[in-house]
Amino acid sequence: MCGIVGYIGKLGDGGRAQDVIMGGLARLEYRGYDSAGIAVAGSDPERVATAKRAGKLAVLADALADNPIADGPAGIGHTRWATHGPPTDANAHPHLAAGGRIAIIHNGIIENHNALRNELAGQGIDFLSDTDTEVAGHLLGSLVESGLSLPDAMRAATKRLEGAFTLLAVDAHDPHTVVGARRNSPLVVGLGEGENFLGSDVVAFIEHTRTALELGQDEVVVMTADTVTVTDVNGEIVERESYHVDWDSAAAEKGGFDTFMDKEIHDQPAAVADTLRGRLDEQGRLKLDEGIVDDYILKSVDKIIIIACGTAAYAGQVARYAIEHWTRVPVEVELAHEFRYRDPIVSVKTLVVAVSQSGETMDTIMAVRHAQQQGATVIGIVNAQGSTIAREADAVLYTRAGPEIAVASTKAFLAQITAGYLLGIYLAELRGNKFPDEIDALLRELDAIPAKIQHVLDTADPIRDVARSMADERTVLFLGRHVGFPVAMEGALKLKELAYIHAEGFAAGELKHGPIALVEQDQPVFVVVPSPRGRESLHAKVLSNVQEVRARGARTLVIAEEGDTEAADHAAHVFYVPSAPVLMTPLLSVIPLQIFALELAAAKGYDVDQPRNLAKSVTVE
Ligand code: M6R
Repeated sequence: MCGIVGYIGKLGDGGRAQDVIMGGLARLEYRGYDSAGIAVAGSDPERVATAKRAGKLAVLADALADNPIADGPAGIGHTRWATHGPPTDANAHPHLAAGGRIAIIHNGIIENHNALRNELAGQGIDFLSDTDTEVAGHLLGSLVESGLSLPDAMRAATKRLEGAFTLLAVDAHDPHTVVGARRNSPLVVGLGEGENFLGSDVVAFIEHTRTALELGQDEVVVMTADTVTVTDVNGEIVERESYHVDWDSAAAEKGGFDTFMDKEIHDQPAAVADTLRGRLDEQGRLKLDEGIVDDYILKSVDKIIIIACGTAAYAGQVARYAIEHWTRVPVEVELAHEFRYRDPIVSVKTLVVAVSQSGETMDTIMAVRHAQQQGATVIGIVNAQGSTIAREADAVLYTRAGPEIAVASTKAFLAQITAGYLLGIYLAELRGNKFPDEIDALLRELDAIPAKIQHVLDTADPIRDVARSMADERTVLFLGRHVGFPVAMEGALKLKELAYIHAEGFAAGELKHGPIALVEQDQPVFVVVPSPRGRESLHAKVLSNVQEVRARGARTLVIAEEGDTEAADHAAHVFYVPSAPVLMTPLLSVIPLQIFALELAAAKGYDVDQPRNLAKSVTVE
């Protein structure tokens, strides 16, 4: 939650911090859009210039157009997802301290803010906001006023703060320096020529540089236009390797689509193809991207636990069917925030697979740490290069979906399933569950998927038309069985997130155990029908479910395999997807559901890229 940007350039003709920061905030707005603000140092030696507004970034941009603030070489900017205090101008970041000399922005939650607030109030400090951030700002300000430099004050403040935070600050007395610190919250440095950048993730600065370095836990970065120094909280220098960012800046643009989400839905053939590309070594065995997990460990694994949240957890549920089927190792899928509180049975023979687009979801990070403390080996399936989960896992299999900007996850879901399948195939080969020709056949099946996804996209007009006609619906139900079950839940999640319509995904077999009571005349019910070429009984059973809800008045919207005329017989609307082996079908059947949610939300006039109350990555527990 919250996007943060920092910039330091040369003083030159006044500096260009504002342009760079507003551009970075526009790219990070998906992380939070309750309010936005900017602070620039350099024009006034006593006071940092700030502007901040409740509402989206556009409100701040308008305010700056009406009442410009002086530009300068050093600046910080923030786009907020509110935790402490409602989204008002006063609670927007930056917050000022030391009489306006220091400005601070923050992502995360400071857990001991109450105690610190009382302590600082006792020193006569007045607070202007409800935020924990302002507390950190005044702590920093009081340390600076006691004579410490901003970098030293930041290190001292970091020692006193508890919780999760990324902090950036500038000092009007030293407009040649930007300082940042992080604990349990992301911060990436972008290395430029005569200028340097900070961001919650690399999209904040990839239009300026694709050379980045990550900050570790409890590290402080001090940037000037020509230098970047990383230390621990005691001031000891920490050497950090820079890396090249694979994403290009065009990947973070809309590319001719009206919304990022529509663009990202259309990126899906490439997201799957790229996730598959170049995975095999000379012996034809899967390669992980980073870190090493000994084959000996993977051979001895007796249980796999997939941990994730939201859409990533549904991807994990899909992957479970395949990994269990191919490896015969028991696979559990658990929401990361439930995992560590139920005292799970984890041992050195447990392989934990952490699935996360951002690699920064706090619940998943904490679950990873818990699993590692119990001796488990952790493999991350992560999209964001260099993110916390990517760094902390024992090994990483990157999904190569490119930046996913829309809050609702689409291409990451498909890429996560693909990566999960690759891991399953790897384990099946390593453990001798499949013969090489069976492995080849599975890889060929996966290779065929991107073209089939393209076909679904090219023939999506009927689902778009139906979605637009359903803008007034109040409840939509989704049914699926086997791999269609997580697809149904993902379809329901998309509709809730985007169109604010009550939607529930059920296991089709559960229908008669309760949910069928919800069905009344004209109730829309999506049903993900399995291939008739799979287990015949499965197809027949789901078709029975279609008939059961139809008999009670439901309007059935059926996702079925091309040529399945039997499914069409029971459907008010049928949407066909190309034929594929059963375990591959989620990569196709979810797409009409994504498009349905997108189109229906757009018909209602909602912002599909930035749905209300949400933020792209949930970096607080
Ligand atoms: O970055 P992560 O994959 O860890 O995020 C997990 C969930 O927060 C995320 O998938 C969320 O459910 C999406 N908004 C769903 O569209």
